[in-house]
Amino acid sequence: MKKAFLLALGLCFIAAPALAFHDHGVAHCNGCHTMHNSQDGVLVDPDSPNGNPWLLKDGTPSDVCLDCHAIHLGAVFANDVLDPSPMKGAGNFIFLLEDNLNDGHNGGAVDSTGAWTHAIPGDAAGHNLNAPGHGLAPDATLTTSPGGSFPASQMGCTSCHDPHGTQDFRMLYGAGRVVQGGIATFANAAPTAEGISIYAGEESPTYHTAYQGGMSAWCGNCHGDFHANGTKLIHPSGVAMGATIANTYDLYNGTADQQGGTHATAYLPEVPFEDAANGVSTTTGPSATSQVSCITCHRAHASSGPDSGRWDFNVTFLSDDGVNSGSYAIPDPYGNVNQRSLCNKCHNKDAHDANPN
Ligand code: HEC
Ligand code: HEC
Ligand code: HEC
Ligand code: HEC
Ligand code: HEC
Ligand code: HEC
Repeated sequence: MKKAFLLALGLCFIAAPALAFHDHGVAHCNGCHTMHNSQDGVLVDPDSPNGNPWLLKDGTPSDVCLDCHAIHLGAVFANDVLDPSPMKGAGNFIFLLEDNLNDGHNGGAVDSTGAWTHAIPGDAAGHNLNAPGHGLAPDATLTTSPGGSFPASQMGCTSCHDPHGTQDFRMLYGAGRVVQGGIATFANAAPTAEGISIYAGEESPTYHTAYQGGMSAWCGNCHGDFHANGTKLIHPSGVAMGATIANTYDLYNGTADQQGGTHATAYLPEVPFEDAANGVSTTTGPSATSQVSCITCHRAHASSGPDSGRWDFNVTFLSDDGVNSGSYAIPDPYGNVNQRSLCNKCHNKDAHDANPN
């Protein structure tokens, strides 16, 4: 029996590229499931002597995923709040364990006992996960997805990624897909994009997720009217940038060089836009039809800025990030102590700006 099983496993690996597991389809079932919670007479999940719902190998769906992905294969959870793993695109859930993310005014204030008085807690770092085996819990502040109604209590890896694989970018759910046994049914398609390797390398201006389209509508599966352009007075997402803003993006090369950029080298992975022409090594700036997107300002998993910001929205100078709170400082792409908010990449309301827009 054991021999036959190993043979089947071997064949499965011969057909797949080295180290592949999901291979954009369903991986071998017992990578995640256990039928009897027993192998060689030992409990597969010692924490759950009576087994788990869904017959999983660990307590919750997210714990199962993190058993492989926490510090390897994208390392989406890392080990250390101050030393996250290399950025791949989605960002790191480790920041959910922070005690304070507030680097704005009074962010570092403490009372006579030394306790923070103006802390923004780690649950604001991004999407919280129901994964007690890794010290994570549902969001303590938000009970549903703002703009929509997805229950925060159920949030986990398999709220967004299909554990049984899809042909789409990063195995994300697409239109019509039923999530977690019926909590939600997605209305909008998975985004079109191309990711970088989860094995090696990290995000840089010449190697980054190529966001091609559909991300705003995809986030809208759970965030509903946050994506309601035109009907609410909110920042547009999933709409064309227009020639004026595209030109500002091209020229803006940081606080110290607001007009010196060029179209050929303007792409900034910290402030991405969606365009069907984007590739993982694209360095060119946007065209008038490139779209501003949720992912322009947010990371999909979490960041060390409040609201999963790609940069800290609460600081005047990026060099203030991490100073009050002691949280991880998101690297400043321009490496300038006077660098201001990256909103300026598209709007240039920077210090002494000469741009008419
Ligand atoms: C990458 C991990 C993973 C692999 C591999 C995997 N599953 Fe699952 N499976 C899950 C998780 C997690 C759930 C719990 C539901 C959820 O979170 O979406 C689940 C739920 C299920 C369910 C119950 C809910 C449903 O969707 O019907 C069945 C049945 C199931 N899996 C069968 C299989 C079979 C058969 C295989 C192999 C062909 C397999 N799974 C491979 C992770 C996995
Ligand atoms: C047994 C280890 C293992 C488990 C458990 C596991 N994965 Fe993976 N995962 C891998 C490997 C290996 C790869 C890279 C090869 C591949 O894509 O098949 C990968 C790749 C991925 C990718 C990137 C796919 C791409 O297209 O680039 C995502 C997303 C992912 N896993 C999500 C999950 C989620 C969600 C779960 C939990 C339901 C999970 N994984 C559980 C081993 C695992
Ligand atoms: C499966 C549903 C789902 C999808 C898809 C989803 N979200 Fe969320 N989001 C939630 C829920 C639920 C919360 C509130 C609970 C939490 O933060 O964990 C939330 C919270 C947030 C927050 C606030 C975090 C905080 O605590 O302040 C931001 C920002 C956010 N989402 C952005 C996005 C973006 C950007 C996308 C697309 C890349 C996206 N979301 C896709 C369900 C979703
Ligand atoms: C709110 C939706 C959401 C949740 C929850 C979520 N992911 Fe993701 N994940 C994404 C999106 C979107 C991307 C692509 C992001 C990009 O490239 O900017 C992604 C990318 C990834 C990648 C590729 C590497 C990277 O960092 O970009 C891996 C691996 C992955 N997710 C695994 C997981 C695991 C494991 C969990 C749970 C611990 C999880 N995801 C929870 C939406 C989600
Ligand atoms: C131009 C940058 C930008 C874009 C684009 C953007 N956001 Fe935000 N988002 C922010 C900022 C800044 C905040 C902080 C709160 C605020 O300013 O309203 C935030 C806050 C949030 C929150 C937390 C709200 C709360 O009540 O805690 C969610 C959820 C969110 N955004 C989701 C989205 C989604 C989904 C999209 C795409 C449809 C999106 N954002 C597009 C910048 C942006
Ligand atoms: C990728 C480019 C991009 C980024 C980055 C960006 N925006 Fe925008 N913003 C736009 C576009 C496109 C519009 C719509 C402008 C129009 O229709 O004229 C807009 C509109 C606005 C408006 C409304 C202007 C008006 O005339 O009514 C405000 C305010 C604004 N953005 C603030 C911000 C802030 C604050 C940030 C950073 C948190 C930010 N934006 C980041 C592209 C961007």
